[in-house]
Parts: sequence; structure tokens; C-alpha cells
Amino acid sequence: MTNKKLRFAVCGTGDFGPQFARYLNEVAEVVAICDPSPQSREYFNNETGLKLPAFENHQQLLDEVDVDAVAITSPNFTHKEIAVAAALAGKHVYCEKAMANTVPECWEMVRACEKANVRLMVGHKRRLRPPWGRMIELQAQLGQVLSITSCAYYDARPYNHQGWWTRRETCGGTLPVIGVHIVDWMRAMCGDVVTVRALPAPQVDPRYDFPDTLHVSLQFASGAIATLNVSMVYPLLKFRESGGPMVVCKNGAMRFVPAMEHLDLTWQSRDDTEPHFERFDDLGFNHAFRQEAGDFVRWIQDGTTPCLTWEEGLRCVEVMEAALRSADENGTVLSLPLYPDLENPS
Ligand SMILES: NC(=O)c1ccc[n+]([C@@H]2O[C@H](COP(=O)([O-])OP(=O)(O)OC[C@H]3O[C@@H](n4cnc5c(N)ncnc54)[C@H](O)[C@@H]3O)[C@@H](O)[C@H]2O)c1
Repeated sequence: MTNKKLRFAVCGTGDFGPQFARYLNEVAEVVAICDPSPQSREYFNNETGLKLPAFENHQQLLDEVDVDAVAITSPNFTHKEIAVAAALAGKHVYCEKAMANTVPECWEMVRACEKANVRLMVGHKRRLRPPWGRMIELQAQLGQVLSITSCAYYDARPYNHQGWWTRRETCGGTLPVIGVHIVDWMRAMCGDVVTVRALPAPQVDPRYDFPDTLHVSLQFASGAIATLNVSMVYPLLKFRESGGPMVVCKNGAMRFVPAMEHLDLTWQSRDDTEPHFERFDDLGFNHAFRQEAGDFVRWIQDGTTPCLTWEEGLRCVEVMEAALRSADENGTVLSLPLYPDLENPS
């Protein structure tokens, strides 16, 4: 274990990069940034109050600045290229969700990091936020999850109606825009997914080249089943996790209702006469981002097992890629793993 602060580069300084840099700076030191957009680089300076060496692309940064790790907070379609370049340069990689747009890209990132013997973590904060983590924990009392019904309806268009968020080649389709966090949380609840089926609804907003309303059904190796309906053209709700899941367990049930200012959880075991009610006034974002950043640093420094690795990122991309493909084929049921040949390279 070393006390020396790890040196990080942040690649991508749009909306999320400066936010995550603040958490990194609590446990490490952000020493350089890259972003092809001068406005975004300026935005980083204004948001964080830092003035760091800034580059137009990751390779220049890797060639010129001595860093231990990179945090990738750029558009999804750029993640693979930056991660592989960082691994080749011997740098550890923290990558934001979605890990990439396809499973083969994810495996390329994994193999590059394995070969370079560097860490690779993908940020999936939802399962780490205490209100959502509480549902994972409640299984100890309520028994195995049998079924989840979940919905994420909100109006994404003010935020994601242009640029890379609107094209499948750049963002990966519907679920990476809305649903990715729930897919990961469902995996935390139920384990590995074995089949995926998705159906698109008629399109409302032609600016997206993928379904703006989508139904997804999942079956898990445990036998559990889940549905997720997402829509980004629902004007009544503005909060991206609006809707919230209902969960059937072997010995009880949970109902989770998220709102902008608080999250309400109601649960009851079959032996209880009354339901239990828990309100979370803190949505838990700070806790989750701190855990991701802190665990990644500790994993590098002393090998402490982290809350997440690349595995969660890759399995989520697998579900999202399968859902897009199934929706294109009007509901074909697809079995996972989606690319069995890539699971065990020779
Ligand atoms: N964990 C979370 O809760 C969370 C929240 C928001 C975004 N994200 C993820 O963070 C990433 C960025 O999202 P955003 O909302 O900040 O997007 P954004 O469009 O606001 O910002 C992306 C930035 O990356 C820059 N960029 C483009 N190509 C690049 C490259 N090759 N190298 C470096 N920078 C490049 C763009 O110029 C832009 O400034 C996405 O993967 C997104 O899914 C995660």
C-alpha cells in the first residue's frame, strides 16, 4: 500500500467529466484532461476551478503526461479506442457506462487491459446508491427475487435530443440512453441474464434512429423474470428514474417509488401484518460516486476487491445489444452469452 496520490487523466469534459473529476480529486489527483472541443475544455475549468494541461486527444495526453490511470467520460462510441490506447500505455482504466456499444468492443478492452496487467472498472452507480442497494439487501429477509416489473418513462428530449445521444452507432441505442442503470441493478438483484426479448412501440421522435419507446423482457439463470419498459417521450415526468420497480420475492414484496426529491420504498414479508415504509431524502449520488472512485483507487493501490469491475459493464452491454437486435427483429428471443466464441479466447 502506498500513500502517493494516483495521477488521473480525465478524457471527455462535457457534462459528466467535471462532475466525476471532483470525486476523483477526493482520493487521487486529476492532472490532465482531453477533449476535442475547446468549449468543453473551458467548461471543465469553469466547473472545477482547475487549470490543467489540456489536450485535443487522448494519445497526445498519454504521450506527454505521466499518469497512472485514465477516467473515460467521453461518448460511448469512443470508450474502446481510449481504453485500449490507455492499456497499451500501461495505464489503469476507469470507464463510464455504457462500457462500449457492442460486446466485441468490450472484450477488446478487457483483453487489452489483461495483457497490460492494468485494472479496468466500469461505473454503474445505481446499484451503489443506498436506496437501490437497500432493495438488494432486503432479499436476505424477503427471499429470492422471482419477478421485477420496472419502468423508466421520462422526457429525455431536452437533454439527449441531438448529437451522439441520438444515433445508435454513437450511443448504442435506446437502453444506453435510458435503462442502462436499471439493467445493471436488475443484474445485482437477480444475477446473470440468459434470454432477452425486446419490442419497439411506434416511433414519436424521428431525431432518434432507434426506438424511443421500448419493451424489454429478461429471464435470469436463477429462473427470475423481469420486464423493463422505457420511453424518452413521456412529457409528464422529468426525472430519469421515474416509475420505479415492483419486486416479487419468494417471501414478500417491494415497491419503490422514486421522485426528484426523495425515494420511497415499501416492503412486506408474507408474515408481516403491515407494510414497512422507508423514505430516503438523500438520493445517494454522492455515496455511489465516492464508492466507485475510492474503490478503483484502492484496487490499484492495494488490490482491495472493488464494488464493480469490467464484468458488470460488459454484461450490461450484452443485454443492451441483445435488446436492440431483438427489437430490430420484432421480438426474437436471444440467448446469452451473445458471443460465446469471445468468452474463452484460445
Ligand atoms: N454514471 C452516470 O451517472 C453518468 C451520468 C452522465 C453521463 N455518463 C456517461 O459519461 C459519458 C459522457 O456523457 P456526457 O453526458 O458527459 O456527454 P457530453 O456529450 O456532455 O460530453 C462528452 C464530451 O466528450 C467529448 N469527446 C468526444 N470525443 C472524445 C474523445 N475521443 N476523447 C475525449 N473526449 C471526447 C465531447 O467533446 C464532449 O465534450 C457517457 O459515456 C455517459 O453515458 C454517466
